Amino acid sequence: MLKTHYCGDLRKDHIGQEVTLGGWVHRRRDHGGLIFMDLRDRRGIVQMVIHPDDAPDAHKTAGDVRSEFVLSVVGEVAARKEGTENPDMPTGDIELRVRHLEVLNESKTPPFPINEESDVEELLRLRYRYLDLRREGMQRNLRIRDQATAYIRSFFRERDFTEIETPMLTNSTPEGARDYLVPARVQPGTFYALPQSPQQYKQLLMVAGVERYFQIARCARDEDLRADRQPDFTQLDVEMSFATEEDILELFEELFSNLVREVRPDLSFVSPFPRLTYEESMRRFGTDKPDLRYGMELFDINDVAASSEFGVFRNAVTSGGSVEGICVPGGAEFSRKQIDSLTTFVQGIGAKGLVSIALLGQPGSLDEEGIRSPVAKYLAVDLVETAAQRSDAKQGDLLLLVAGEGGKPKLEPGSSHRVRPALDGLRREVASRLQLADPNVLHYAFITEFPLVEWDDEEERWDALHHLFVAPMEEDLHFLDTDPSRVRSRAYDMICNGMELGSGSVRIHKRDLQERVLRLLGISDEEAKERFGHILEAFEYGAPPHAGFAPGIDRIVAQLAGETDIREVIAFPKSKSGADPMTGAPSRVSDEQLSVLGITVVEQPE
Ligand code: AMO
Repeated sequence: MLKTHYCGDLRKDHIGQEVTLGGWVHRRRDHGGLIFMDLRDRRGIVQMVIHPDDAPDAHKTAGDVRSEFVLSVVGEVAARKEGTENPDMPTGDIELRVRHLEVLNESKTPPFPINEESDVEELLRLRYRYLDLRREGMQRNLRIRDQATAYIRSFFRERDFTEIETPMLTNSTPEGARDYLVPARVQPGTFYALPQSPQQYKQLLMVAGVERYFQIARCARDEDLRADRQPDFTQLDVEMSFATEEDILELFEELFSNLVREVRPDLSFVSPFPRLTYEESMRRFGTDKPDLRYGMELFDINDVAASSEFGVFRNAVTSGGSVEGICVPGGAEFSRKQIDSLTTFVQGIGAKGLVSIALLGQPGSLDEEGIRSPVAKYLAVDLVETAAQRSDAKQGDLLLLVAGEGGKPKLEPGSSHRVRPALDGLRREVASRLQLADPNVLHYAFITEFPLVEWDDEEERWDALHHLFVAPMEEDLHFLDTDPSRVRSRAYDMICNGMELGSGSVRIHKRDLQERVLRLLGISDEEAKERFGHILEAFEYGAPPHAGFAPGIDRIVAQLAGETDIREVIAFPKSKSGADPMTGAPSRVSDEQLSVLGITVVEQPE
């Protein structure tokens, strides 16, 4: 047998036993005569001692052993000498007295240290991902992911959901990103698309009478990459017939609460999960994915700004824009330089500027002395008092205000769509600088009542905010033809710590309503028939009402693992440019391969 025990499992109970271990050399120290080595395997590390007199052959071999060599060793588990125990290591009470040692394979010097969690350049880590994954942190993350998906499967199976796989080669799905296309050899000139999500299949499974479906589904989207986005990623995809919003939200609240208890019992979460309507979330936080671990909620002073002497404020409001802000607790201490850098920061995310007002005095009885601001001379004390009162500001706080002029309506006509994203960014930035977010809390929440559509300035048409199968709210249906911006949908998102984790909705299940929505989105009847004929047709054969949800597994696991980048919880992710430096994907293919597919590559000038 190449191994009888795992290195990391050995304890005092094993003292006196002869064991055979297999693993990698984690560290090696030559103490004159004695050689100490740490041997590592998937369960942990154990210290080995090789004595020149007790095991002369092993000692000789050990002399040439280097980090990451693969060894088979036979020896006796012994208590460490008193005073040399290591309480930081689970195996720290014992060591292995080696009798026999065999090198099963040698290793070149790794391009980065495996035995420490040092910062290594991303491309190098991905190029040698198999070595990167050997490191302790990555081993831990892979296991957290496994625990999470195993729990998710058991959760849904217990509730009588059926796991069903759907095709990887499919037709374009309208999730809003660009498709990855796969040429079909048998019909040259035609293409499959990789699924952006199993959305249509899961709805068709409801028509098929499955009633409760789930899948841990691979998806692919050709979009710009970020810390929370990969070209291929994994969703927990769920759909239920005869379900309402409430059924889905309760199911997922239970799932996520259990998941934290199961995988990270040391983390806390807020229960019950708060629910905010989209309108409330935008008004209070400027975003539909706020980090709820800290305050600094947005407030507006449009009423007083409209008559302000300060032209920037007045013009913003009179042109249909708004003046809104946040209050930074204790921020009156910020230096000029700190405030300048926040100004540069908001300018970088679309704001024209930032007005700062330090409250040196007591709100409620402020006078000119009590207000420090670069534009103090234009600001009436009343305006500052109003702002302080609306943000519940205290003496020593800092008000940060952004004014934005009205533009083309996007979501809410004549409103704050320029101001709020800037304040959302500012709120996150300040929280990060002041370390306001507790890293040991997972603050889950649901956002509900999203608008059905938003106006696409570039394409000059209405676009689905989620996707085109989302059901509109019954009571807003009458706006569908008159004022689509006012139609709320039955869509919901789940968020956590400022990140969108998943989204879902009650779906349309009737052909006529689906056709109306498609028309609203500027999809002609002809195009609708061509692209969605199958689903429209299915709706005519007794489609049950149904609803679903799809959180991203990579994001869920990253948060459970305490990582900010989903690549840390994906075994083989792509780099920021969408490449895999290890396999070299994407790569050119031979002319022969192309010719079978009837494809010619047109070289683009650099
Ligand atoms: P949506 O497009 O909002 O909804 O996606 C759902 C969740 O999938 C994850 N996700 C991603 N994760 C990593 N990299 C990506 N590129 C990426 N894109 C999406 C996110 C996101 O919240 N079919 C609908 C769901 C439904 O209505 O049931 C859908 O796909 O966590």
